[in-house]
Amino acid sequence: MERTLVIIKPDAVAKKLVGRIISIYEDNRLEIIHAHRVLANREVLEKHYEAHIGKDFFEELVEFMSSSEMVVLILEGENVVEIVREINGSTNPAKARPGTIRYMFGEGLTKNAVHGSESVQVAKKEIEIWRDLIRFEN
Ligand code: CMP
Repeated sequence: MERTLVIIKPDAVAKKLVGRIISIYEDNRLEIIHAHRVLANREVLEKHYEAHIGKDFFEELVEFMSSSEMVVLILEGENVVEIVREINGSTNPAKARPGTIRYMFGEGLTKNAVHGSESVQVAKKEIEIWRDLIRFEN
């Protein structure tokens, strides 16, 4: 079954939105197979955001993502990567469709509440990256 990696980012965790965000995924019939609250370090974030190294927003992004705890989720379901991206909405909350998580809870490009893997291939890679920190079994 297809899997994806979601991060409920530090802004949303600080605002106590974890339960509401998880409910949105569950209401869309997606299965939460792992959920783990963690303080990410720079090492894991540099791997996770490897594609963005060198971009002007990279330092701010890593600083923010390691500033306080996040919740890492692994979701499973048919077509889950695409469904989660739809539910999350556009990266920029100002451009996100009403009803999406980023529309409802995002503050800006960096504090945009959630991350979801962008493809099945990337999801596999991201799940392995976070496995090093979280050590889930299956
Ligand atoms: P995310 O899905 O976590 O993947 C990369 C993140 O970089 C993105 O969400 C945003 O939070 C953040 N970011 C900050 N500035 C930008 C930008 N100008 N363009 C794209 N992503 C940005």
